[in-house]
Amino acid sequence: MDEQSTAGLNEQTKRPLGQSMGLGGDPSKLADYYNDWATTYDRDVGETDEQYGLPGSVLIALDAAAEQIPSLRDTAITVLDAGCGTGRVAVALAANGYSCIDGVDLSPEMVALAERRTRPDGSPLYRRLESGVDLTTPPTAGWVAHAELVVVGGVFTIGHIPPIAIHQVAKLVKAGGVLITTVRPGYYDTTDYADVSAAFAASPAADLLAEFESLPYTEDSDGRYFVYRIN
Ligand SMILES: C[S@@+](CC[C@H](N)C(=O)[O-])C[C@H]1O[C@@H](n2cnc3c(N)ncnc32)[C@H](O)[C@@H]1O
Repeated sequence: MDEQSTAGLNEQTKRPLGQSMGLGGDPSKLADYYNDWATTYDRDVGETDEQYGLPGSVLIALDAAAEQIPSLRDTAITVLDAGCGTGRVAVALAANGYSCIDGVDLSPEMVALAERRTRPDGSPLYRRLESGVDLTTPPTAGWVAHAELVVVGGVFTIGHIPPIAIHQVAKLVKAGGVLITTVRPGYYDTTDYADVSAAFAASPAADLLAEFESLPYTEDSDGRYFVYRIN
């Protein structure tokens, strides 16, 4: 979580101010941080769409992508929720019919909670889940070019992964597929995300299909949403 988010949550949860900023993108510290937070994460970010707007905003970004790539409306495509946490993004995708959702994350405790989620018919929400996956490093063979749609929700944020990690997460996407990222203003303004994104979209590797400057994210902040086609 970035500074604004940590400050906002602190009022509700008394989590130490600035704690996540001090993690400095260190995977083992991030895993510990989220392992400790896992059981109260959903309550803390808010259970409702009004409180935690990110999943609903991902659907808006996905709709924009599908305007240009109609095959994304096929709910049988493989979707990868990268940095899945407890599964909030997958809940929204499943509610819109997506049936093959996989997830990866650093934190075993967050993934353990994602694993418990079920669909209305009682089947698991996720098809396949893996913890201990670091999105800043090259993906293992099993995840390379894995999904038609990859969503990285809430991970391009201060103290978590750097903008340059976009090149690693892009490797998770099948050629012709789509990558959606979410970026809070505090991160966008203090990192080189804009430059990295522009260079990425200008390269043969990707095209920027859509950018939303302000859509709901957490209760205290909107965020930017980026939609890239991976070539
Ligand atoms: C703010 S939470 C967002 C979780 C979920 N996407 C959501 O919207 O609720 C950030 C997640 O990113 C994960 N994370 C942080 N750094 C990571 C990294 N380098 N690789 C993979 N996951 C990471 C954390 O474990 C945590 O589950």
